[in-house]
Formats: sequence, C-alpha cells, structure tokens
Amino acid sequence: MSRRPKVFVSAPLMGREAALRGVADVMVGDGSTGVRALLDGLHDFDALVALLTDRIDGALLDHLPRLRLVANVAVGVDHVDLAACAARGVLVSNTPGVLTEATADLTLALMLSLLRRVVEGDRAVRDGRFPPWTLDGGLGASVSGATLGIVGLGRIGQAVARRARGFSMRVLYTGPRRPETVERELDVTWTTLDELVAGADVVSLHCPLTTATRHLFDAARFAAMKPGAFFVNTARGGCVDEPALAAALVRGHLGGAAIDVFEHEPHVHPSLLDAPRTVLTPHVGSAVRETRERMAHVAVENVLAWIDGRPLPTPVAAPRG
Ligand code: DGY
Repeated sequence: MSRRPKVFVSAPLMGREAALRGVADVMVGDGSTGVRALLDGLHDFDALVALLTDRIDGALLDHLPRLRLVANVAVGVDHVDLAACAARGVLVSNTPGVLTEATADLTLALMLSLLRRVVEGDRAVRDGRFPPWTLDGGLGASVSGATLGIVGLGRIGQAVARRARGFSMRVLYTGPRRPETVERELDVTWTTLDELVAGADVVSLHCPLTTATRHLFDAARFAAMKPGAFFVNTARGGCVDEPALAAALVRGHLGGAAIDVFEHEPHVHPSLLDAPRTVLTPHVGSAVRETRERMAHVAVENVLAWIDGRPLPTPVAAPRG
C-alpha cells in the first residue's frame, strides 16, 4: 500500500484503538451512528472495525471501494453480508473464544433466575409485597435434575453444558455435528431437534443466526415443547418468532422464557414486554470488562495482521459458491 492505511473504528474500543494509531490513520466514531455515518461522509477507508449493531451490506460496501477488511468486534456475523464482502474482496474477521465463558455464565444466570423466579421475588420485595412464608408459596422449578436441551454445541453450547453438569442436569444437544470426544467428555447426548424439544425441561439456544436457523423456533416448535418447559436465548433474536413465543407464554404452555437477544435490537417486540414469566436483558452476554477488552484486542490484532500482510488470526470463512 503506497499510503498509510485508513481505519474507521465504529465506536471507542476501551483504549485498544491506540495500538492502531502507530501504523494507520484512525478515525473513531462515537458509537451512535456506527458505520452508517460513512454513507454520508468519507469513503476512502481500507479497514473497518465494526460492532454487532453495524449492518455491513452491499450498499455500505459500494460506498467504500478501497475497503479490504471488516474486523467485527463480536463472534456473530449475521449483521455482515459475507457474500457481498467476498464478492468485493473484503476479508472479515470476528472474535471467537474470548466471550465463551461470559456468555455461558449469563445463560446460567438467566436460567437460574427464570426457574427460581429471582426477578419476580426481587420486584415483590421492593414493592412491599413480601409474600407470607407458606410451604407451597412462591414455588419455582428445580434446576438440579432437570433436562437441558442445548441447540448448537459450539464453544458457548459446550461451556453451558459443562456448567449444567455441575447442577446435575441431564444434557441433550442437537446440531449439525456430533463431536464424539466432546460428547464423552461432557456426558451429553445428541438428539434430533424434534426429540430435544419434546424432551427438555429447559431449551437453550446457542446456534448462529443463518438462513437455516432464522425463526427456527416458531409457533409449531413452541407447541412441541413440553408443557411448562422453559426457553432461554442468549444466541440471536432472529432465531425466534417472537410473537409466537409470547403467545406460547400467554397461553400458559411454557413455564417461562429468559431472553437476552431480540430480533430487531434495540427494539423489543411489545408482545414480549407484555408476556408473563419472562426475564429480559439487553444483549449483555459478553458484557464483562475483561471480555469486552479481549474482544477489542482480537479485533485490533486482526487489523494489525492485515496491515502487516500476515494471515488474519481469526478470519471468518467466505460463504461457499
Ligand atoms: C457476539 O459476539 O456475537 C455476542 O452476541 C456479543 O455479546
């Protein structure tokens, strides 16, 4: 490259962007408009550091003809049009591994809160509605001994399974691959999705959002869940038909749902806000200081590698065909 590379960083990276300044001209957005700010502005950037709230599509790429790298500060890449990037010779990287444990921790936190009615209890105490202590008052559901169904046994699914075994849960999983050594190590059992949905007391999503998983959980799938079963989603909101989930909760078919991710963030479907027995959090699976710092670090390392002409440490494969 005959000039210093130009890098647009969509939002401050907890100071990690400083590492780029020695080797590139860096512009840091304020995070409010993200990369969309570029549509009305400069178009000579060579690399973007993007958040999961940044939609990287053909229109944006057409506006950035020099762009060669999108370093995504997240493991999920459903907001990036990978085919459009590949068609224009734009490489994509993500941040796998560094947010596994934090996201698995949150999944367990949500599951425990939901089954043991922690949020309801908190509200009651604050509202001055301390319920009388009776043997059958305020009953939740047992986590210990329950059957957990994990949809997607990737890094995060495995970390959730490991924690669930610590709670003496029986763990079923489904997914396109059957890693036998992992199955043995974690003592988890593969089933079809239909069997998992019919057999689990708690279903937890850990699959990426793709065309195959969009609205994977729709009205029929929720109806096929065990009566009184619970649903947890820390993966992607788009995997769920949200009004169908709300309807299953209103009907009383499901015992409850804990949701960290929504199809049209930051908008939350009103039916979910009104649905009973829900715990809702604002996409905070990776929201731990050390985790976010590591995510920023991995994204910056990818940009530095690209500038040096080295292979990307954590590339995202271009779609086939
Ligand atoms: C990711 O990295 O995809 C997570 O959703 C961030 O929390």
